[in-house]
Amino acid sequence: MAQSPSTPCAVVVLAAGAGTRMKSATQKTLHAIGGRTLLSHALHAADGLGPEHIVAVVGHQRDQVGPEVEKVAAELGREVVQAVQEEQNGTGHAVACGLAPLGEYEGTVIVTNGDVPLLTAETIEGLYRAHVDAQAAVTVLTMKLTDPTGYGRIIRDADDEVTAIVEQKDATTEQLAVDEVNSGVFAFDGAVLRDALTRIDTDNAQGELYLTDVLGVARADGHTVSAHVAADPRELAGVNNRVQLAEAGKELNRRLVEQAMLGGATIIDPDTVWIGVNVRIGQDVTIHPNTQLWGATTIADGAVIGPDTTLTDMSVGERASVIRTQGERSAIGADATVGPFTYIRPNTVLGNRGKLGGFVEAKNATIGAGSKVPHLTYIGDATVGVESNIGASSVFVNYDGVKKHHTTIGDHVRTGSDTMFVAPVTVGDGAYSGAGTVITKDVPAGALAIKEGRQRNIEGWVEEKRPGTPAAEAARAARERATNEDNQEG
Ligand code: UD1
Ligand code: CA
Repeated sequence: MAQSPSTPCAVVVLAAGAGTRMKSATQKTLHAIGGRTLLSHALHAADGLGPEHIVAVVGHQRDQVGPEVEKVAAELGREVVQAVQEEQNGTGHAVACGLAPLGEYEGTVIVTNGDVPLLTAETIEGLYRAHVDAQAAVTVLTMKLTDPTGYGRIIRDADDEVTAIVEQKDATTEQLAVDEVNSGVFAFDGAVLRDALTRIDTDNAQGELYLTDVLGVARADGHTVSAHVAADPRELAGVNNRVQLAEAGKELNRRLVEQAMLGGATIIDPDTVWIGVNVRIGQDVTIHPNTQLWGATTIADGAVIGPDTTLTDMSVGERASVIRTQGERSAIGADATVGPFTYIRPNTVLGNRGKLGGFVEAKNATIGAGSKVPHLTYIGDATVGVESNIGASSVFVNYDGVKKHHTTIGDHVRTGSDTMFVAPVTVGDGAYSGAGTVITKDVPAGALAIKEGRQRNIEGWVEEKRPGTPAAEAARAARERATNEDNQEG
């Protein structure tokens, strides 16, 4: 039966290998770029195809890889079957394991590698269509590289037909010079693949069952084996070591930054701005250098972010400005201003037109519209009403050494510099506090809270107690000047 491009297919994603070249305690496909694991990138691409089945082949460290597959499946809202490859005997063996849960599946089987994170659904779709159009049993997605080192080389005969894929370690000098390589992405006729996998061997430099050897078997059986050359080889870069991880991360970021700019954001220096895959950026946003936006961060229209700012899972309202700030899991209202040098810890909500100024740390604090915490303050476990102002150098003393306690500040409150709010404590609407007040008792609405330890000046103390110091010398000179002035006036 001839297949049409709409024929449902199965995608098998290989993620069982050890990834030795990463030199890592973490399985290779669990390393992340753009805030998403390599495996998650691969599964997202597979999902984009709308396939009937997705199978992830897991093995090495599957106690960690398995849960990641489950997490991504939940994100995608679809089933991803896990097939276990107990011993990692090569990519051919991995695909055989991946086919097991599909039974006698007759449709097209797409195979992708878990370590090719920039691959898009569109490119897989292109491969799929080429495969169907050529009525091929096997189609390999290839790419041409100026430096093909490390990849399997595509070997073609005099008629330009693909005859084999030869791995770097098995290749002759002549084969090593071939610049067309295997991307690791294939389309197979399910039945042909299943049969051919039973007939490949481990007679190669790595003693493994190579998926790539399926091509030779299929061809010998008289099936059509074809190749589809990808337009953009950058998309097919495999990640085997940390250098390639960084390169892939950079390329992904280049795309995400470009997307943001085409969406109407001004990015002053695209090379120093990092954006995760789940970040949403509005129009007329300006992003200054050395800014990183991660997680589910959203930046509304007209906001100005950076320089030197890292935001993770933050929402920033329209026209807000966030300068030299570190922020996590919090919300900044419209027209609010934050920074410079501000540390926003989880569960902080800054209202519209609010302010968190220089050297302010906030945590689990809800600050009402128009309220300001402008200078040198720690505000934690607090609720502040609207249009209030917290004086410079204040501390919300939330921790008694055992438990955390809450402070509640009303609307239109004015607290003096260096006020300590010893929680649990409440300051009523319109109340004031004097500079240096340690508030341990609730302050009623409209009251002025002051703690009067009256100032006492002990005359002559420095000259008497610190003789011979520069301070005592300055004190003596000041005293003599005052005496002379008195005498002249005398
Ligand atoms: C593989 C291809 C190579 C291709 C390159 C593209 C083979 C033999 N080689 O080489 O032709 O140019 O990808 O990036 O197929 N895996 C398993 N089980 C195993 C072995 C590997 O699941 O037993 C998984 C790995 O986790 C990885 C993928 O298969 O996600 C590829 O394995 P890797 O060892 O990286 O193959 P390469 O040497 O890159
Ligand atoms: Ca690889």
